[in-house]
Amino acid sequence: MSAIGFENVFLKFPGAPHPAVNGCTCEIESGQLIVILGPSGCGKTTLLKMVNRLYEPTSGTIYLNGKDIRKIKATDLRRQIGYVIQQSGLFPHMTVAENIAVVPKLLNWSRIKYQSRTDELLSLVQLPPQEYRDRYPSQLSGGQQQRVGIARALAGDPAVMLMDEPFGAIDAITREALQDEILQLQRQLKKTILFVSHDVEEALRLADKIMILQKGQIVQFDTPFNILTKPANAFVHNLVGADDMVRQLSLLRVETAMTAVLANNIPTSAHTIARHDSLRQALSILLRTGAQKLTVLDAEKVVGVLTLEHIRDAAKMGASV
Ligand SMILES: Nc1ncnc2c1ncn2[C@@H]1O[C@H](COP(=O)(O)OP(=O)(O)OP(=O)(O)O)[C@@H](O)[C@H]1O
Ligand SMILES: [Mg+2]
Repeated sequence: MSAIGFENVFLKFPGAPHPAVNGCTCEIESGQLIVILGPSGCGKTTLLKMVNRLYEPTSGTIYLNGKDIRKIKATDLRRQIGYVIQQSGLFPHMTVAENIAVVPKLLNWSRIKYQSRTDELLSLVQLPPQEYRDRYPSQLSGGQQQRVGIARALAGDPAVMLMDEPFGAIDAITREALQDEILQLQRQLKKTILFVSHDVEEALRLADKIMILQKGQIVQFDTPFNILTKPANAFVHNLVGADDMVRQLSLLRVETAMTAVLANNIPTSAHTIARHDSLRQALSILLRTGAQKLTVLDAEKVVGVLTLEHIRDAAKMGASV
């Protein structure tokens, strides 16, 4: 059973000439991070808001763990689903701790329980509790506010998180740090995350699968690798820059291109790379060191060898499909 299912979902706003969401059907596996990607106005936010019933579909059905969400009370539904929006949406008159405790209080947790939960969540998003719990949102940077927004969304321990361009207004460096944190949280907490973005790099970096929306329709729903190497149409091709070889190399793992050897302890080159590293990293080592080949390692073991030829072949393969 999928965590979230969309079955022929439409939403047409009153008076609008076209549906904002135009017949979406897909299944989202539990524990996956799905990035919804597409240009402004394609229906990303609308799709997301239907999942916690901030909007109701004009027709079609959305399922949460196999259950039609219309059969779940909206308030109960929203307690099961964390929601993070672009401008953090923190209550300005509440401290950081009070903001995070909103849902736990609704759930009638004891003071002791929600206070320790608040501190735990602040630590999880890298804000030392003793320093941050009593501040007001206006006393935080944009990136810190987003972290609190994420902590708040996690507070009731929801299995599903909806994140609508949570890092949209944040500078590139902080953004990367926050992306890393989301990836780590994802691995640690195994949430199902629907993450809206219109940044292709962000999508490639974060997603288990990318859902590409065009005018309210899903035009492709696939892994980053498949989206890049097998774009469904010209729109996807242009959107993700499938011609960009550097981007492809950054997504391909060394192990997909190397010549494998039986695990041993004999390096063929003084320069090494890990099997899970990207071909882009491998290329940069080869170019920087002038080495002919790299020894590919899995932990301490030698598992393969990688040359410039391998990288060239992999890039050709990606570009030709
Ligand atoms: N409350 C509303 N009433 C009427 N039309 C709306 C409403 N909200 C969104 N729309 C329209 O629905 C379409 C999809 O909007 P949506 O907000 O889902 O786009 P989006 O993909 O999230 O865009 P962005 O990247 O700019 O946030 C747009 O044409 C928008 O104008
Ligand atoms: Mg939007």
